[in-house]
Amino acid sequence: MPTPQPGVLSVGGAHAYFLTCTVADDAERTALSQAIRDIPPSVRALAGGAKTARLLCTLGIGSELWDRLSPARRPSGLRPFRAVKANGRVAPATGGDLFVQITSGRHDLNLDLAMGLVRRLQPLATMAEEIHGFRYRDSRDLTGFIDGTENPKGKGRAVAALIGEEDRPFAGGSYVAVQRYVHDLERWRRLDDREQEQIIGRTKRGSVELPKAKKPQTAHISRVVIEQDGAELQILRQSYPWGTVREAGLYFAAYTKSLDVFDLMLARMMGATADGLHDRLMEFSRAVTGATFFVPSLETLSSLKQ
Ligand code: HEM
Repeated sequence: MPTPQPGVLSVGGAHAYFLTCTVADDAERTALSQAIRDIPPSVRALAGGAKTARLLCTLGIGSELWDRLSPARRPSGLRPFRAVKANGRVAPATGGDLFVQITSGRHDLNLDLAMGLVRRLQPLATMAEEIHGFRYRDSRDLTGFIDGTENPKGKGRAVAALIGEEDRPFAGGSYVAVQRYVHDLERWRRLDDREQEQIIGRTKRGSVELPKAKKPQTAHISRVVIEQDGAELQILRQSYPWGTVREAGLYFAAYTKSLDVFDLMLARMMGATADGLHDRLMEFSRAVTGATFFVPSLETLSSLKQ
């Protein structure tokens, strides 16, 4: 199988940068392809000088931009983010052409890389959003709950995230869905631990799943655990808390071999499925952005138009 970008399957370090860029309408295809092809070698050069920091950079390409870069061949599951609206709740589509996820153990290294990439992409592309993520305590979301307990492990990570034989020309690639969530932490903190646990569906301290009889159908994990043909649908989450005292939340990022899986989970969270139930977590957090990207294998990236 072609080589996935190293950041897709790895567990990222304590610091993250998420950049979304918009490509200029008149950006020339050859120059753009060259700028994109240059990214992995420049990351390797920086990472080589700081090995213990485990610098990883993952690049995603939006649906419209992909057609400009490679009009003849497109990944079968690539499409723009599908906004969801249900009962006054909205998960908006805000789009983007290029997505960059940088992780490492060092914020300064991430900044150096992000600045270098943005400089290199100018004037072809401009940065539309820059978010800094961080590990909070023992890998908790800012709600205080451990995030990642049931993320796929070992080989399961590749099974969930990587395109395989079903779309052979793009095997080793992935899709990423991102949403920036803003939490209403003031309201959240007014709930006691037991109420919060009912909303998440796991215990707060140890992240133990609540027994079936005690886990509401509207708990977060009740909405996102979906069985199809006897198997649980899986995505590989690489989310990070972000924010300041004034505003904070979760930068949600999920890698998947099929965006259908993410769409179904989100529809069940938002209350857009036939059962009419929604995820109670969505009463305490709202998505303010939403975008999807194709994450090519290293071979596909380096074969972009010379
Ligand atoms: C406000 C945003 C969100 C927060 C704070 C959040 C938090 C959490 C927490 C605390 C868990 C339990 C621990 C774990 O297994 O990781 C969890 C599990 C999970 N979440 Fe989220 N999540 C958010 C959004 C989403 C979205 C948008 C999706 C997908 C569309 C999603 C999919 C999942 C999945 C698949 C699991 C694992 C369920 C299992 O197998 O038990 N989450 N999330």
